[in-house]
Amino acid sequence: MFESFYGLSKTPFARDIPTDQLYQSVTLEEILGRLEHAANRQLFAVVTGDCGTGKTTTIRCFKDSLDSAKFMVMYLADSKLTPRHFYKGLLEQLGCEAKFYRGDAKRQLHREIELMRGIHHMQPVVIVDEAHLLDKEMLEEVRFLLNFKMDAESLMTLILVGQSELWERLQLQSYAAIRQRIDLQFKIPYLDRAQVGEYIKRRLAYSGADHDIFSDSAVNEIFRFSSGAARLVNKVCTHCLLYGAQNVRRIIDDHMVKLVIQGELS
Ligand SMILES: Nc1ncnc2c1ncn2[C@@H]1O[C@H](COP(=O)(O)OP(=O)(O)O)[C@@H](O)[C@H]1O
Ligand SMILES: [Mg+2]
Repeated sequence: MFESFYGLSKTPFARDIPTDQLYQSVTLEEILGRLEHAANRQLFAVVTGDCGTGKTTTIRCFKDSLDSAKFMVMYLADSKLTPRHFYKGLLEQLGCEAKFYRGDAKRQLHREIELMRGIHHMQPVVIVDEAHLLDKEMLEEVRFLLNFKMDAESLMTLILVGQSELWERLQLQSYAAIRQRIDLQFKIPYLDRAQVGEYIKRRLAYSGADHDIFSDSAVNEIFRFSSGAARLVNKVCTHCLLYGAQNVRRIIDDHMVKLVIQGELS
């Protein structure tokens, strides 16, 4: 409803923004470049970042950027992932019905991946999102996936994506075997003040706005509240637009942002 008040053709801060409409920060470009490198060389990469900083969005963008004739992307995001579900999930994405026993399913997956590579000349890319929620057993299983053929060759690109505590866990001595196999690691940072301003502009442009709706001082407040986490920027901006439309304010200033944060978000 605020869309018509502000003359917007799309909801500006919605989650399902198409990947070609994202805010292209320098970091996003850089990470996409490195992930592409990982996909071309079948490397093992770990991407971490705090909640709402854009990890899943980055992966979505990466998936869309890959040549679908060359790469087969398998994506799993299941907090209760067990080894059996892991193999089952991957096999399902390959259009196969998984064998019941874990060991059988694992061999089946290896066979399917070899076929994919050898016959179809496709490179598998396995992405496990929310990986900070995986237990030790599951992370070990992931490691075994990389251990194929006694380390002689890498069978696939593997990307673990998770909150920052994943990286902290991987520093523990008991995870040394996994850690040593990591080829690339990066952390998605929070947006800085200037980037939050650009991010909001990009989102508004996407939704068809023909003028700036948030004043500079409003962006300062949004930055302070969100610390530069995109999800929180979306949330506070959406609340402000609702409030602004109800109170007939074309421009949203810092005073209004503070009111909204105090009244609805804290
Ligand atoms: N570069 C970006 N451009 C536009 N929106 C983004 C960008 N990065 C993140 N977002 C938005 O921020 C929200 C949170 O991002 P998400 O990728 O889900 O974070 P995470 O997976 O790190 O918790 C999503 O709704 C997403 O649309
Ligand atoms: Mg996510």
